[in-house]
Amino acid sequence: PFPWYRKQLEKGAVLADDSYGGWHIFGYTEAQTALRNHTHFSSERFRNSGNMTNPRPSILNLDPPRHTQLRSLVNTAFTPKAIRHWSTRIQEIVDELLNSISINNETGETIDLVSTLAYPLPVIVIAEMMGIPAKDREKFKRWSDVLVEGPSSLTPEIIMDLMQRKQVAREEMRHYFYDVLTKSQHPEHSLIAILLEANLEREKLTAEELISFCILLLAAGNETTTNLITNFWRCMLQYPQALEDLQHDHSLVPSAIEETLRYYSPVQATSRIVTEDIEFYGVEMKSGDHVTIWLAAANRDSSIFTNPDTFDIYRSPNHHLAFGHGIHFCLGAPLARLEAEIAIHTMLQRFSSFQAVPAEWEPIISGFVFGLYSYPMKI
Ligand code: HEM
Repeated sequence: PFPWYRKQLEKGAVLADDSYGGWHIFGYTEAQTALRNHTHFSSERFRNSGNMTNPRPSILNLDPPRHTQLRSLVNTAFTPKAIRHWSTRIQEIVDELLNSISINNETGETIDLVSTLAYPLPVIVIAEMMGIPAKDREKFKRWSDVLVEGPSSLTPEIIMDLMQRKQVAREEMRHYFYDVLTKSQHPEHSLIAILLEANLEREKLTAEELISFCILLLAAGNETTTNLITNFWRCMLQYPQALEDLQHDHSLVPSAIEETLRYYSPVQATSRIVTEDIEFYGVEMKSGDHVTIWLAAANRDSSIFTNPDTFDIYRSPNHHLAFGHGIHFCLGAPLARLEAEIAIHTMLQRFSSFQAVPAEWEPIISGFVFGLYSYPMKI
């Protein structure tokens, strides 16, 4: 997508969509302004869609005041401080996953980074945080994968099939969480216990709203974090000097993660609906217009980032928009950063050499997700 972003950025920061109607935002300042202005740019994408597939919107698809009320229920569980409590457990999970590899010290070993580490890690972590028993993890992963899957092509049959599979997954999850939520015992400090407790004290959510929340927590953080870890190693093997520097100095890991988020953003775009006619950086947007905000293009805007197409682990400042901006800024950002940090540190400590393996990569085909289904590398 990157040459296309470059071409669009050269044409303009805000462009009309000639095929489908609506607008595309590519520029950094313009994207930030739209994300900050939740009054004119609504997240309630499902408000008028008759809504069979999304009967109770989650916070991702809500505007204030409901958004503020619901987000505050779990905010405290996701602060960087609260998330740091999970460090030891995340380290254990990473160790367990990497222990499954046996390496011949002479010849090395080719692993698939995705299935060995990047894919199982986030789902195990979030399932544990929610207090879900280990035996149900596989089921969880399957559901969350379907929920974020994009159509492999834009034919009506494929889209219908995907919609139906999403509907089935959502129904199965609803039943699952309904059972979980109505149980009287929940592991102490689990997200579900926190949600229920805060709810009793304050918000009085319906069971449906609680269930949507659980589904969002599960779906929003899995594929995205998997792709962050995969995209990180893809950058490292593409730019050997960066890897060499990192191997000499592990304290560069956090800034290398930030640069990966900017350079290969796991979520390439998000969208909003215009709530009333507005002039926006010289164009006339109409109420009801659909706006696609290309975070990944904004992250390569040369008016903000020097040499935007260069991968630079020393880049500072690096105020990328990979986690969004404004009131919907990613709730799980501290968790995603911590998981990636521990996973990458551990690999750098355990293995002395990392090499690319020539392979046909299968990109994840979905408008807004940037990642790979598998990533073989030699360690
Ligand atoms: C929102 C990206 C990991 C939970 C968002 C948004 C982005 C994003 C761009 C804003 C969408 C918008 O404004 O429309 C990412 C990336 C991740 C990641 C790139 C990993 C590298 C996670 C994790 C969790 C999570 C691990 C939770 C366990 C959420 C939630 C929201 C959100 C609940 C909605 C927040 C709101 O609407 O107020 N994420 N995310 N994300 N993310 Fe993440």
